[in-house]
Order: sequence, then structure tokens, then C-alpha cells
Amino acid sequence: MDVESVTPEDLARALSDLEWLTALGMSHRPVLGWLSRISRGRREFSVLDVGCGGGDMLRRIALWGAAGGMSMRLEGVDLNPLACRTAERATDPALPITWRTGDAMAEDSLSSPDVIISSHFAHHLSDAELVHFVQWMEASANIGWFINDLHRHRLPERFLQLLGKTVRLHRFVVHDGPVSVRRSFVRRDWKRILTAAGIDRSRIEIRWYMPFRWGVGTRP
Ligand SMILES: C[S@@+](CC[C@H](N)C(=O)[O-])C[C@H]1O[C@@H](n2cnc3c(N)ncnc32)[C@H](O)[C@@H]1O
Repeated sequence: MDVESVTPEDLARALSDLEWLTALGMSHRPVLGWLSRISRGRREFSVLDVGCGGGDMLRRIALWGAAGGMSMRLEGVDLNPLACRTAERATDPALPITWRTGDAMAEDSLSSPDVIISSHFAHHLSDAELVHFVQWMEASANIGWFINDLHRHRLPERFLQLLGKTVRLHRFVVHDGPVSVRRSFVRRDWKRILTAAGIDRSRIEIRWYMPFRWGVGTRP
């Protein structure tokens, strides 16, 4: 989805379908669960979402923070300017979220967020890029980081293929869903990446979440 040239309206439709699929896959749960644990005892918290797409995750985090009386500073960064524009349009300006276009790892303007998160971003990277991403998060986040991504398995791949045939979804989502699963991870991939990144494994948890996803991040 990040490589094609599209109109803002077309991309907004694709991101809206992706948001629906994300909700169906309960993909917010690992992130919100981890945030609850890692932010325990804090009244203020800042979060950077890398590859934020249409911004759905940060909007959920803003509501979660508000419900818990937490003062939050949230930033979404995405390489695609249309994604940031879509996110901005879909977001209540009263929410404490800013959107920035750019390559997250190439930027040195990062204002030291407490945590860095990403969802369905890691599988877009090569192994070498992913190792660099993990090292960059280790160096850049004040408290910790969390990667939320898919489990490479025949069942979710088949499910998404069937969904694409039975539900009217945007062509990008129909194409990208099964491809994303194929590019995703099994536990041994994460062990290999963390070892290559030189990360102290006792600080990191690799956790499987229903249905068919991984949460990899700093142990709270
Ligand atoms: C599959 S989308 C995921 C969007 C959203 N996080 C979600 O879960 O629905 C991956 C996003 O990562 C963005 N992206 C890819 N490389 C990036 C980079 N180096 N820095 C920031 N964003 C990037 C793409 O533009 C795309 O919007």
C-alpha cells in the first residue's frame, strides 16, 4: 500500500477498510495491554507510533489515556504524506495527537518519547532494516518500545484470502492482507532479530496474542 501512487480519496478508503480489518483482528489489544502495564503509576505519558497509517491506534490510545485520567502527548509518523493527511482529517482536533510525515528512523528531530510503538509496520522491513529499527527504538525511547505484528501462518493467510473473496474490501487490502501474513513472523524470527540487534533478551518479552499476532517489546 505504501508504494503505489494513489489519490487521497482512494487511500482514505483503503485505510478505512484496513481500520475495519484491524478492529476485526483485535489488534489494539496487545498495544493497550502493554501500555497499561508499562505506564502503571504514571500520570503523564508520551507515545510515538511509527508507520501510523490512518491513525486509528493513536486515537484509541488517546481515548484510553483520557479514560484513565492520564495526560498524554501522542505523535504519529508515516512516510506517506497522504496517510498523515487522512489521519489528521479523521482525528478530533481536541485529542492530544500530532501527525508528522517522514521516515521515522531518519529523523533526528524526535522529541524523546516515553515509548515507541508500531503496528503492522515491522513486516514491511527487511531483516537488516528491522535490526536497525529495534536498535533505534532502544536508543530513542525513554521507557520502552513495543512491536505489534502478525504471525506467519497458513490459517490467517487463508482467512484473509477468503475474506477478500466474500467481503467487498478495497483492492489494496485484498492484495496486501495475505501478502502481509506471508511477510510476517514466527517466534524464532524474533529471537534471531533480537540477537542480531544485540538486545539483552531478559529485558524483552515475545508474546503471542489471539488471534495470530505477536507483541514484542520491553518487559514492563
Ligand atoms: C501496513 S501500514 C500500517 C498502518 C497502521 N499502523 C495500521 O496498523 O493499520 C504500514 C505503514 O508504514 C508506513 N511506513 C513504511 N516505512 C516507513 C518509515 N520508514 N517511516 C515511517 N512510516 C513508514 C507506510 O507508509 C504505511 O502507512
